[in-house]
Amino acid sequence: MTLRPGADPDGFRDAARRLVAEGVPPDSVSWHLGGTLDLFGTHASDTPAPPLALPRGVGDLVRMVVPHSDPERYALLYTLVWRILHGERRLLEISSDPLVHRLERMRKAIARDLHKMHAFLRFRRSEDAGIERFVAWFEPDHHILGAAAPFFVDRFRSLTWSILTPEGSAHWDGTALSFGPPGRREDVPASDGFEAGWRDYYESTFNPARTNLRAMRSEMPKKYWHNMPETAAIPGLVRAAAARTEAMIERGPQMPVKRNPARAVAAMGDQEPKSLEALNAIIRRSEPLVPGATQAVLGEGPPGAIVAFVGEQPGDQEDRQGRPFVGPAGQLLARAMAEAGIDRGQAYLTNAVKHFKFEERGKRRIHQKPTAGEVSHYRWWLDRELDFVAPRLVVALGATAVLALTGKAIPVTWARGPADFAKPYAGFITVHPSYLLRLPDEAKEEAYGDFVADLRRIHDIAASL
Ligand code: URA
Repeated sequence: MTLRPGADPDGFRDAARRLVAEGVPPDSVSWHLGGTLDLFGTHASDTPAPPLALPRGVGDLVRMVVPHSDPERYALLYTLVWRILHGERRLLEISSDPLVHRLERMRKAIARDLHKMHAFLRFRRSEDAGIERFVAWFEPDHHILGAAAPFFVDRFRSLTWSILTPEGSAHWDGTALSFGPPGRREDVPASDGFEAGWRDYYESTFNPARTNLRAMRSEMPKKYWHNMPETAAIPGLVRAAAARTEAMIERGPQMPVKRNPARAVAAMGDQEPKSLEALNAIIRRSEPLVPGATQAVLGEGPPGAIVAFVGEQPGDQEDRQGRPFVGPAGQLLARAMAEAGIDRGQAYLTNAVKHFKFEERGKRRIHQKPTAGEVSHYRWWLDRELDFVAPRLVVALGATAVLALTGKAIPVTWARGPADFAKPYAGFITVHPSYLLRLPDEAKEEAYGDFVADLRRIHDIAASL
């Protein structure tokens, strides 16, 4: 079978369908890349073979692995398809099977490559005959340009941009995405006015007390540095880290500034925030859901956190203290995390909705579930927040978080476990800790055990990413 070079998911799908229909076993097929010839000749497409009845999850795995640069990828995928259709329906569940294991490692490599491209690609501004265009150069490890481009359409819909790579280019003209021939690094302007902005952003998010050069290099490998203006600031920041840490300790903690939400929202305009700090400033100034809420409760955790946990909304304690997960549900979560070996201080904790919604009953403020409309209002911020934090794994705690992360009302009971949020990070769905608090006593112990078991899986998944 001859498929197009790079990633050819449609070609592979058609080829696999036809091979299965003809009863051709994997060891009789040889896969070639690069040509346009087709074993079945020109009339083959006149009689497309029927779709394959494959279990859930196989299609997603195939789509993820097809862009891998391993020349054996199509042979491996066809072997998987063949074995599943010939008596091994549950093959994907056997993670110790060498084929499944290898494909899973390939899938992870693609997820990492996508994450790096989304996080480390930098556009530079160019102008041609008065027309503004943003151009970026990137060298992915795998053939992921097609899979990565929709993310940038979503993010930079109102701009006109091109992404150039050594094996192809993607172009957005404000209405349509198209793909073209390879580009060259020299076609990207050397520098522009945004460079200083990126450096400022990096300097403002750089935490000198957490300088760990090995972790920095593994998170932001040196091969990407030459495209990223902010990396010019790294050597100086690292040199100054010790002195800045001492100054921070001497200065002591600073109290959050309270703002008048109504005035601040009016002042916000339609600015796209360029950093987590800028985003948080907008959230801090936004209107609460109900009058009387004290403050917006922002996400919390170290830069570079590998796992982010998304809850529903701050509760009474969180609203008073201005920090997520400090009340009873948060304490239960902290206990379960510790039992599962997750260091809470290394995780990023945030909420789908940033304000406490409640109803006053006497002196008590009773939690009220946010509506779908309210969740979608905050979703805009949550998406950007997670982009800035760039964790490798995001955990949805409960149905509101699932709604915020997927836009869909999916019952946690059946979606519990690893999940695909169609984002550059891996996903996991589990229950909200306040659900455990509400259970009758006799059911609590078992449910808590299940929750800790989920957190252990989360720990292991995060360690493998
Ligand atoms: N419940 C949440 O979802 N978030 C918090 O911060 C506290 C309780």
